[in-house]
Amino acid sequence: MVKLHFWDFIILIYLLEFGYGDVIEVPPFNINQKDLIKHLSLVDIKIALPAIYVFGDSFVDNGNNKAILRNKDAIGGGYLPFGIDFDGKPTGRVTNGRIGVDFIATVAGLPYPPPIMGMSKIDRKTIRTGVNYASGASGLLPQNGHFLHKNVINFSQQVDLFENSTMEDLKSTFDSPEGFTQYLSKSLFFIHHASNDLGLTFEVEMEKKYSIDKYAKLLIKEFSKQLKRLYTLGARKFFVSNVSPLGCSPFNINTKNHSGPCVEEINNRVSVYNGLLPGLLEKLQSILPGSKFVLGDIYKVFQDVFEMPRSYGFKDVNTSCCIDNNGTRIQVCAPNIAPCKDKKNRVFFNPFHPSETMHFLWARRFFKDSSICSPINLIQLMQA
Ligand SMILES: *[C@@H]1O[C@H](CO)[C@@H](O)[C@H](O)[C@H]1NC(C)=O
Ligand SMILES: *[C@@H]1O[C@H](CO)[C@@H](O)[C@H](O)[C@H]1NC(C)=O
Ligand SMILES: *[C@@H]1O[C@H](CO)[C@@H](O)[C@H](O)[C@H]1NC(C)=O
Ligand SMILES: *[C@@H]1O[C@H](CO)[C@@H](O)[C@H](O)[C@H]1NC(C)=O
Ligand SMILES: *[C@@H]1O[C@H](CO)[C@@H](O)[C@H](O)[C@H]1NC(C)=O
Repeated sequence: MVKLHFWDFIILIYLLEFGYGDVIEVPPFNINQKDLIKHLSLVDIKIALPAIYVFGDSFVDNGNNKAILRNKDAIGGGYLPFGIDFDGKPTGRVTNGRIGVDFIATVAGLPYPPPIMGMSKIDRKTIRTGVNYASGASGLLPQNGHFLHKNVINFSQQVDLFENSTMEDLKSTFDSPEGFTQYLSKSLFFIHHASNDLGLTFEVEMEKKYSIDKYAKLLIKEFSKQLKRLYTLGARKFFVSNVSPLGCSPFNINTKNHSGPCVEEINNRVSVYNGLLPGLLEKLQSILPGSKFVLGDIYKVFQDVFEMPRSYGFKDVNTSCCIDNNGTRIQVCAPNIAPCKDKKNRVFFNPFHPSETMHFLWARRFFKDSSICSPINLIQLMQA
């Protein structure tokens, strides 16, 4: 029997309350590469990454939907309070400030990869530091997301844009084809996808057609096809995130039955897909020479937060910060209504999407945390 002394007891209480003291401090808006590296305690790292190409959904969309949907639609993130901490500008990022890939670009010493939609002809022919093709509400399956908005850019179309627009625009600006090949092989391909396939789309359109096991296999098959296409086009360094526990989103916990803190049925569905992803990436790396596929476990990043929110400094894990048209915090953000004041301490900004603080946390863990990334972490992939 362990006997606790007074101070052991105090320390134990402290640990239970505040965990490991890993409280997140979001770096200032205009932080430079050097200071961010210091802020992240990434000492003595050297990164020579030429570009970051971003694919996926609303977790990483930084303006494509805003351009397509002309600022009006909530899935475009094109109005305040979105961007309230992004110098007060709604850019299309569906959160209050920066998104995870912004921090990744800064650590690499690169500008934020601009959204392909609305890029000028000159920019398309001169920007060699990366482009963002992600589109909120889009899915891995081409037709998914159409019930939300028919113009979202599905994954296959995102790869088309990389192939037919960016590659065509840049190819001739390199001195030699070898130079271009080398550039592509050193660039980072960052992908966060499948949340929409597994969330509403499944419930509205797919549940009646597929069992979750069949459906998850179908998603993996489509993912495999598009990743192979990117490889064939010249991509070698892939960082692929799995899907977060969607059953814990404020929207789901407020609109669906659940006995625990989250809607387990939805998390179980996500887990079936997440369970297949490591096998896909390992297989692709083994059959595609020179490729590196790294998996980022964003599901676990969220799970760890839900288990010990206060150790990260979160005071609220289950309510949206922005307010909807009904004056509640369940549906999409209403335009021009001031959000909560304690944005920094919340996991969610709207009922579906993380706050800037949570975005910074997932990026921070992807950078250096080998229990979240496999087989190497994001910094190691960026340096490879
Ligand atoms: C994929 O997206 C593009 C662009 O919005 C669209 O034209 C195409 O029809 C979509 N594919 C399918 C199968 O829906
Ligand atoms: C891009 O190229 C692919 C293959 O060459 C073609 O099937 C697709 O329609 C093209 N897409 C666009 C947007 O031009
Ligand atoms: C929640 O459960 C109750 C009782 O089982 C049921 O009547 C209700 O329709 C359920 N609501 C939802 C949103 O599933
Ligand atoms: C949100 O979490 C708090 C505890 O942190 C809990 O009391 C509350 O019931 C939760 N809300 C919902 C809607 O699940
Ligand atoms: C407002 O509430 C009604 C009834 O609960 C609901 O059907 C509707 O979706 C809500 N709209 C918004 C924008 O929150």
